[in-house]
Amino acid sequence: MKQNKEQWWLDFFKGDYSEVVLNQQAHETLVFMQQVGELTESMNVYDQCCGKGYLAHEFDKAMMNVIGIDSSNDYIEYAKKSLESKRATFLLGDANEFIKEDYFDVCINWNTSFAYHTDDKENERMLVPFSKNLKVNGQFFICTMNPLFIKKHFQKFIVKQIPYEDSTIVTIRESWIEDDMMKSDWLIIYPDGRRETKYGQTKLYSLEQFKEMLSRHNLVVEKVYGDISMSPYDDDHQSLIMYGHKV
Ligand SMILES: C[S@@+](CC[C@H](N)C(=O)[O-])C[C@H]1O[C@@H](n2cnc3c(N)ncnc32)[C@H](O)[C@@H]1O
Repeated sequence: MKQNKEQWWLDFFKGDYSEVVLNQQAHETLVFMQQVGELTESMNVYDQCCGKGYLAHEFDKAMMNVIGIDSSNDYIEYAKKSLESKRATFLLGDANEFIKEDYFDVCINWNTSFAYHTDDKENERMLVPFSKNLKVNGQFFICTMNPLFIKKHFQKFIVKQIPYEDSTIVTIRESWIEDDMMKSDWLIIYPDGRRETKYGQTKLYSLEQFKEMLSRHNLVVEKVYGDISMSPYDDDHQSLIMYGHKV
């Protein structure tokens, strides 16, 4: 049965199959952010829901200091072991609880890490530390699903293959829209034939809803894009990317 699961992300974001939902264009993403914002060496960056730390690592290479937090034990274990450095720190924890007030020059929430709950108030809670941790005049980037694109180009089934050792993991994702949310059942088939099922959901907010929500936290959206190639935000581009400042 298709049903909502509380804290589904704790069960979802682990293991090699979930590489399909991590940003595989970390370097290109940094270049995009450098073009859109003003990023300079020694700035402090907060990567809220950093996944395995691929993007945080790019900030590190660009000589910026970065703290990434994520609730996935597997991801943070990987990030600490493979990517931690004197400029890049990774923490295991709930992003709703991490407070380092007025410390960061840049806060990012990248690649659909926001709005996993049905309840709007619960979703908005993540913006409290996101804004509190950012200095006044600090910059923010948020990238999530574009509801206009999903409506127009909805795909009920998406099949992907992920290279795994000398074979592949296959993921089959069946999606539907319910309660303004994109909900998906995933079937994962491992090279040895083992099968696993997972569930995930993300609330779809319009740009107008985001602007209103962000403004309650003193975050003003100034630029909007549909992908990291600077495409416009419209119904033919996959993402909703927002850039702005805290006032
Ligand atoms: C789709 S992944 C994106 C990861 C990364 N930002 C990227 O660009 O690839 C979403 C991430 O959000 C994390 N996450 C979701 N809710 C969280 C929470 N409340 N606190 C910390 N991490 C959370 C998940 O564990 C997962 O790593």
